[in-house]
Amino acid sequence: MSQSPIKNAPIKDPSITKAAENEGVNSSAEQTSSLSTSPEFDDSDKIVIQAQSLSKSVSTEKEHLTILKQVNLAIRAGESVAIVGTSGAGKSTLMTLLAGLDVPTQGEVSLLGKPLSTLDDEQRATLRSDSIGFVFQSFLLIPTLTALENVTLPCLLKGEKEDIERATQLLTEVGLKDRLTHTPSQLSGGEQQRVALARAFMIKPSILFADEPTGNLDQVTAAKIIEQLFELNKAHKTTLVLVTHDNDLAKRCDRTFYMQAGELEERE
Ligand SMILES: Nc1ncnc2c1ncn2[C@@H]1O[C@H](COP(=O)(O)OP(=O)(O)O)[C@@H](O)[C@H]1O
Ligand SMILES: [Mg+2]
Repeated sequence: MSQSPIKNAPIKDPSITKAAENEGVNSSAEQTSSLSTSPEFDDSDKIVIQAQSLSKSVSTEKEHLTILKQVNLAIRAGESVAIVGTSGAGKSTLMTLLAGLDVPTQGEVSLLGKPLSTLDDEQRATLRSDSIGFVFQSFLLIPTLTALENVTLPCLLKGEKEDIERATQLLTEVGLKDRLTHTPSQLSGGEQQRVALARAFMIKPSILFADEPTGNLDQVTAAKIIEQLFELNKAHKTTLVLVTHDNDLAKRCDRTFYMQAGELEERE
């Protein structure tokens, strides 16, 4: 939905934002990570995402549509939070605003202590490429790059040297040690999403946003991806915002918010 280009680590080309779709996986849930985590945001009292009176409206030729209505939200470092709701409820819109991929009509988002309204597009993109990981329903891998190159890409976007060792370790953690030189078309949907997971953790993100990460996968594959997502999240002590329409999945998170017709409510 977002009009703005997804300038964060995954991809710079907005034309790729509505790409691929699929399935297939293999659990490595029992594997523990030997990789370093984000040191700056270990303080669990620290609020890393805050939304205040967040509203989003769009006008089309036919109508004026209010997609989000006065949403308030505060997420602490290390929490896992599910945002649940039916299709069209406004979940993805909320996620793009929280991640600074789009701007609200009203209200404010603070991300890692920075009010996003005070940052320009480029500063928001830098904040994302430094600290935020993304996993989308459509995996959004670069088709011409190998699995390893897709995973090291966030280093380049951040202006750093490719950390091939870390990328290899992450791909090993998601069970793709033997697929390093495969391109996306040579991988199953589930394998592609595992590459996307590894990529999301490449920059040691403080926050991971996952928007229906298993939406294009069959049930068995989806379950395995979810195990890996939670496993990586725990190992890397990342704050997780998981958008899903699956109530059972939501129960695995520390907190659950329900989105209905643009209104957000936390439930026990
Ligand atoms: N840029 C846009 N222009 C018009 N309508 C939009 C736009 N973005 C989202 N919407 C509408 O807003 C509603 C919420 O969309 P979305 O956030 O994608 O919902 P969800 O992720 O919960 O399925 C939908 O009805 C969608 O069609
Ligand atoms: Mg959505």
